[in-house]
Amino acid sequence: MEEPRRNLLRWLLGGGLSASLISFLYPAFKFMNPPDIPEASVNEVSAGKVQDLKPNTGKIVKFGSLPVLLVRTTETEWSAFSAVCTHLNCTVQYKESSHQIWCACHNGLYNLNGQVVSGPPPHPLEAYSVHIRGDEVVVSRRA
Ligand code: FES
Repeated sequence: MEEPRRNLLRWLLGGGLSASLISFLYPAFKFMNPPDIPEASVNEVSAGKVQDLKPNTGKIVKFGSLPVLLVRTTETEWSAFSAVCTHLNCTVQYKESSHQIWCACHNGLYNLNGQVVSGPPPHPLEAYSVHIRGDEVVVSRRA
């Protein structure tokens, strides 16, 4: 009678230990192997209302997970570029005083066509299209 009780006790303790180990290891395993969820591809985003951005100003717009620099150069002219500097991926900004795009990290300068003017950036900024729909500014990928 003593032996079956001992076996039952061993079985319960062993099972409890196994369950504890699994409960500790499973979250760690899931953390190291996250599920493959592809990022939804974004082709256009609303950048707000026309009246929200004055001429000769710029703002950063979220394009999916990427920052895009939207610039309103004049009353009717708009442009947009990837806001990721082609040097070391800092976020660029519009410099109103010189009408250029500036990267503060290493003083990189781009013109309003996205071309490198000076500094270390090796490539131009990727250009996006800007459309006005009613009073809404829409930024989209170039085809
Ligand atoms: S990261 Fe922009 S100039 Fe270096």
